[in-house]
Amino acid sequence: MRFLLPLFCLSAAQATFLLDRNLAYKSPFADHPQFSHDTGAIQKRHIQHARRQMPVEDATPFKDEHYATFYGADFSNSPFVWKGGLNFTHAVASGDPFDTSVLLWTRAVPVESDGQLPDQSVPACVSFVIHTTPTLSGKPVDSGEAFTSYDVDWTLKVEAQGLKADTKYFFQFADCTNPKSVSPIGSTRTIPSPNTPANEVNGGNPLTLAVFSCSFWQNGWFNAYGVAAHNTSADIFVHLGDYIYEPIDGAPGIAIGRPVLGRELATIHDYRQRLAQYRTDQSLVDAHLKAPWITVCTHQRSGVLPSPLTCDAIQVGDQGWKAGTADSNDSTAGCTFSPSGACFTDRKLAAVRAYHEWMPIRQVDGDDKLRIWRNFQIGKLLDLTMLDTRHYDRDITDLIYNTVVNTLANVNNRSTMGAAQEKWLADTLSESKARGAVWRIIGQQVLFSQLDLGGFINLDAWDGYRANRARLVDHLYNQEISNTVILAGDSHANWVSDLSHANDTNYDPITGHGAIGVEFAGTAVTSHSRFSDGPVPGPADDSSRQLVQINPELQWSEQFYRGFFTLTIDEKTMNATFFAMRNISFANLDHFQSAHFVVKAGESRLSRPVAGGNVTAGALKSGGGQ
Ligand SMILES: *[C@@H]1O[C@H](CO)[C@@H](O)[C@H](O)[C@H]1NC(C)=O
Ligand SMILES: *[C@@H]1O[C@H](CO)[C@@H](O)[C@H](O)[C@H]1NC(C)=O
Ligand SMILES: *[C@@H]1O[C@H](CO)[C@@H](O)[C@H](O)[C@H]1NC(C)=O
Ligand SMILES: *[C@@H]1O[C@H](CO)[C@@H](O)[C@H](O)[C@H]1NC(C)=O
Ligand SMILES: *[C@@H]1O[C@H](CO)[C@@H](O)[C@H](O)[C@H]1NC(C)=O
Ligand SMILES: *[C@@H]1O[C@H](CO)[C@@H](O)[C@H](O)[C@H]1NC(C)=O
Ligand SMILES: *[C@@H]1O[C@H](CO)[C@@H](O)[C@H](O)[C@H]1NC(C)=O
Ligand SMILES: *[C@@H]1O[C@H](CO)[C@@H](O)[C@H](O)[C@H]1NC(C)=O
Repeated sequence: MRFLLPLFCLSAAQATFLLDRNLAYKSPFADHPQFSHDTGAIQKRHIQHARRQMPVEDATPFKDEHYATFYGADFSNSPFVWKGGLNFTHAVASGDPFDTSVLLWTRAVPVESDGQLPDQSVPACVSFVIHTTPTLSGKPVDSGEAFTSYDVDWTLKVEAQGLKADTKYFFQFADCTNPKSVSPIGSTRTIPSPNTPANEVNGGNPLTLAVFSCSFWQNGWFNAYGVAAHNTSADIFVHLGDYIYEPIDGAPGIAIGRPVLGRELATIHDYRQRLAQYRTDQSLVDAHLKAPWITVCTHQRSGVLPSPLTCDAIQVGDQGWKAGTADSNDSTAGCTFSPSGACFTDRKLAAVRAYHEWMPIRQVDGDDKLRIWRNFQIGKLLDLTMLDTRHYDRDITDLIYNTVVNTLANVNNRSTMGAAQEKWLADTLSESKARGAVWRIIGQQVLFSQLDLGGFINLDAWDGYRANRARLVDHLYNQEISNTVILAGDSHANWVSDLSHANDTNYDPITGHGAIGVEFAGTAVTSHSRFSDGPVPGPADDSSRQLVQINPELQWSEQFYRGFFTLTIDEKTMNATFFAMRNISFANLDHFQSAHFVVKAGESRLSRPVAGGNVTAGALKSGGGQ
């Protein structure tokens, strides 16, 4: 009977339902069997495993009464489930809220039981409940069970359904075979349905988004996430990329107790190990416990670029574009960068698969392999439109050693989005206006406005795709689409600008008249800027004072502090508050507000005086600041 103990038996009638309910098996591309998991095959493996457990010498037909049954059933066609105990190693998370559903995430790893190690051929069964009360009292609004297994790194992503719009929820996972073994309780929410009047969204209170980018493990503790979770009333966390980084360089990690595990990421194992390590930072854990996240993919390296202001490429490899990165591509040479010999395409697939396993992100289109661009209609208050300006269909970027892009930046048909995404964005913006949404927020990775860094322009941002940028800005002007706010990460510094065409003489930098929107580009959670490692902000502020003078649209620049910003939104105003962390070399929540901006609905520019004429870090064009 030794083999019976840690296992439960499951009804064949369930077929693959419990595997399919875990969306991690569908990642990254549900409709491409070679790129997602064949749950039928996994179930067959489980059953074969169960059969192998039968003693060879016992020739008599197997009798299911010898086994504990889970749903009570015919053993002959049933997989076992692990009942030796589960460890919810990475707490819980939630994401991509709709008006009636939200994704719930956890990871449930089998633990050694009675000296027996879990067998990787069997799945674990995890149940979930979602309630409106923090004590989880009464009947759950939705509940269910799903399997996970080593195939998906023991991650579990289920969609809680049948929820009420614009409502706060609390959820928890448990071991199906031992309901006393539970995960921490997470809180999450749904968004209002698209037709909810703007002034009724969030029960008539302003809605707060907390916006992040660029969290590099070795460079510091993720205090920014913790401050957002504990010291703001963020309703939704938005991440614009570089959630993890691929390289292992970074001696500073050791000095601050943050050595990174593993090697430069290339294989699925590498990516999973890195994500698992990042997700042990308590501030990040707290932020995932607190509210749903809406993310676009991420990652990257640091410290090797000619200009430290050039942000690290996002998601897969440095300076990523659709067919390569600075150090890897599908040529023979491009496959040798990693000891594993992974070529760029394999690396990208591993990165995307692990990302979809570990992040509570929906698959927008199971057939469109890398699509992560998607839109959230948050009542009539706003559309939150998330883009992929990195990998989806991006034409070649400045590959550091390859400056060909200098001659291409102006080419008309060059795109950072790809034609399909570009058209979709234009249509989404027009539809947002047509449906009467007050605000349009575009969440995307790289700096949008032209930024002259004193004779140097970073072509690994929209500055390298000028025609694409101009087409988008033209669309806003031509269709008279107001109240558009672009968010950017990637640059590891704060840049706040009125939105207009580059070098547009119709735009007045003093009054902001002539602008068609605003850009809020935020600093990194921990990644370096060229000034961030200095002892004092002085040199950073000297640079910022110069840059706000030479760049017409740029109204505030701040390059010293690591942090994040919030957007607090109602139908009349959108306020952006920038948070600076005092010290990221140890875990703490010490912070201050470095600047506060108001945008009034209908004005499509920063309200004057910009930042109230007063900031506590960086430099304002209007002369305020340090
Ligand atoms: C559960 O996982 C955590 C995090 O990996 C680990 O520290 C702990 O030892 C594990 N507990 C058991 C019982 O395996
Ligand atoms: C931030 O939150 C922590 C944890 O709740 C609390 O101890 C701290 O006082 C808060 N800081 C500020 C400035 O509110
Ligand atoms: C591909 O990668 C190799 C090795 O890093 C590099 O020498 C080559 O220039 C790359 N090709 C392209 C088109 O980027
Ligand atoms: C873009 O235009 C150039 C020059 O007209 C042409 O050679 C190239 O094939 C075009 N690329 C695409 C993707 O249409
Ligand atoms: C704007 O003008 C500057 C200075 O002449 C130039 O370097 C830059 O390329 C121009 N930008 C665009 C988008 O034309
Ligand atoms: C934005 O800030 C202004 C003043 O700073 C305040 O009057 C307004 O109520 C705020 N709006 C929101 C939505 O928080
Ligand atoms: C940050 O904290 C570390 C560790 O306590 C300390 O050594 C360092 O001086 C602090 N840095 C600043 C700028 O306060
Ligand atoms: C301006 O900033 C200073 C320094 O942080 C602060 O003491 C002061 O209250 C601010 N004034 C206004 C009007 O916000």
